Amino acid sequence: MTRTFTMDEPDTRNRLDDMLQGVIGTPCDRLDGAAKVTGTATYAAEYQIEGCLDAVLVTATIAKGEVTDIDEASVLRMPGVIAVLCDPRMTTRSAQGGAGKAPTQNPQEIDYYGQPVALVVAESFEQARHAAKYLKISYREDSDAVFDPHVAAAPVEEQTGKSEIKGNLDRAMREAEHAVDVTYTTEGHNSAPMEPHAAMAQWDGETLTVHLSMQMLKYNVKELADAVGLKPQNVRLISRYVGGGFGSKLGITAEAVAASLAAMALNRPVRAVMLRQQVFQSVMRRSETSQRLRLAAKADGRLAGFGHEALVSNLPGESFAEPVTQASKFLYRGDDRTIRLELARVNRLTAGSVRAPGEAVGMLALECAMDELANEIGLDPVELRLRNIPDRHPTKDIPYSPRNFAECITLGAERFGWDGADRKPCQRREGEWWIGTGMASAARVHNLNEAQARVRLCADGTAIIESDMTDIGTGTYTVLGQIAAEMLGLRLENVLVRLGDTTFPPGAGSGGSWGAPSTGSAVFIACEAIRAQLAQKLGCTDEELSLKDGTASAGGHQRSLTALMAGEDISETGHFKPGAISDKLATAMYGAFFAEVAVNAYSGETRIRRFHGTFSLGRVLNHKTARSQCLGGMVWGIGSAMTEDLIFDRRDGHIVNPDLAEYHVPVSLDVPELDVVLLDGRDPAGSPLQAKGVGELGICGSGSAIGNAIYNACGVRVRSFPITPDKVMSGMPEI
Ligand code: MOS
Repeated sequence: MTRTFTMDEPDTRNRLDDMLQGVIGTPCDRLDGAAKVTGTATYAAEYQIEGCLDAVLVTATIAKGEVTDIDEASVLRMPGVIAVLCDPRMTTRSAQGGAGKAPTQNPQEIDYYGQPVALVVAESFEQARHAAKYLKISYREDSDAVFDPHVAAAPVEEQTGKSEIKGNLDRAMREAEHAVDVTYTTEGHNSAPMEPHAAMAQWDGETLTVHLSMQMLKYNVKELADAVGLKPQNVRLISRYVGGGFGSKLGITAEAVAASLAAMALNRPVRAVMLRQQVFQSVMRRSETSQRLRLAAKADGRLAGFGHEALVSNLPGESFAEPVTQASKFLYRGDDRTIRLELARVNRLTAGSVRAPGEAVGMLALECAMDELANEIGLDPVELRLRNIPDRHPTKDIPYSPRNFAECITLGAERFGWDGADRKPCQRREGEWWIGTGMASAARVHNLNEAQARVRLCADGTAIIESDMTDIGTGTYTVLGQIAAEMLGLRLENVLVRLGDTTFPPGAGSGGSWGAPSTGSAVFIACEAIRAQLAQKLGCTDEELSLKDGTASAGGHQRSLTALMAGEDISETGHFKPGAISDKLATAMYGAFFAEVAVNAYSGETRIRRFHGTFSLGRVLNHKTARSQCLGGMVWGIGSAMTEDLIFDRRDGHIVNPDLAEYHVPVSLDVPELDVVLLDGRDPAGSPLQAKGVGELGICGSGSAIGNAIYNACGVRVRSFPITPDKVMSGMPEI
């Protein structure tokens, strides 16, 4: 049976707090932890499939034009080479989860450097890679490629649906006691998952089975079926373990389409793994951004006007536009508002969702501009934020669901030992080093997605959860297991969680931080349906029923679950629908960051000394996995503030630093001991679990706390991220 719950109203029942098992919220270890650290977790490319061929993609070396010839004969003579596949359908470009997308209309057309054009299949990976290197491809090259979104040649489209204009910001700026009008820029980012994109495809003449590394199987199955010309019911996708995705595995990618087409054409299993350079050059990027912030404040710091206008970019024909103004719509006061987003069309690889699309870079600019305003007024930046928390959503005029935003700021300040009394820069020096502190708010919109999960309570008193939901390293296996254990009164070790297989009910997928609140709610709903049946068997109401450690009790009598079920399993499917709740209440996750940095007066090198985050995300389902997400987000914040920068060659648009040696993500020595505090709250508008998303919150604003600390240390305000030593040195005071 399927039970459906639609989230049209806040769910105030708060049922999880009535349960007795006591496993929800606890920092229990990951169910998949031992398999991962002992190397027994099988990732997409690691399955042992007899007779499997290896394949390597070949990618375009021009940015605009078309393929005129592929000289297959030149490599077909090489040892071990089985086939060269030039099927245009593999060039299908898609970075976004969504409804299945058809391949590009003119398949030979190239519109970015690195676009996949062919697949070389061989007996071994080495043979395939060698042949791929020598495959000769001829092109007709167009001379009008545009690589830079800021040049006049780049066509720009306004994203009118993303705009919000209210009152008169120009007037508010003219009349303000204090105002800042500043433009920040951020560069492209790569999602840089440790596991490269990989697929192993098998074709039995009717069904295509693909082990791959994807985040959103229920969409991916439609996308892949569409690309290879099959019905979705003839495609099975399996993603049991995913070594990070961060958005780059939301939508089906070229290696999966190419491996599938090759397996179907050759009637043999085919494995295709992207080279690291291809992950950078051929999957997708986070758009670079240019963001103008206009903040018009009254004498006391309260905002009268608020403006956030941004330019982002994407390929011609792609619909995604990095939603950098997303949190700006609800975070702060200001009656006169202008929020706009523009999209430039450029020949850089597809821009798509990279961890916290929007806020990751939008909050970077906004929170530095807020710091500039605080300095302008001479007000503690903590106080500036507290004075600007709105009572109601500034444009939608709807109330907020529980935020705890002010609590995060004040508790974080206390925990960090924040001194807001004197915020003048260049006050503290230790030898060669300027020392400074900075803070920033965290905010991330709360997303929900439709989800189903099946829960079977077995006659032996164990439970099995099944959904095509993925665990991309976030802790989904564990959290879903905890929800069922709590609701059914079982020890966690008696719950088996099976994910990442499209033969299971369609979950929410991992994206937009909606995994736990959405698929978790589906598990919760299924368990409610099971509880109702158990209550009936015990002759009580669901409210009277208590379940703990495999025993059911009500009104003084109790029976073991195994006795109650008398040899019969109970299986229920929970179906969660997001409903209309987001029209009624403005729901988001909040927090605050505090950083202390040392900046070298002679080299401009920045070392982060202390970094703290306090977060509010509704109920904390597992303190260990939730905290771990926040730590990861703060590390991303360090990367975006200090080093991460996709560099495109101005002549041909290729990425100059397409690997983890040249594209610098933070390593251990870049990261100090991080301090994270989670406020354990309840948000009835978040989900029936009263939990919200956590995955992306830690990156939303964290880099700005570092940028603000650098300013406080040495008085250098860098408005172009990342804040590399050369930029810091260009403004370094000579004292
Ligand atoms: Mo996320 S960037 O929506 O995987």
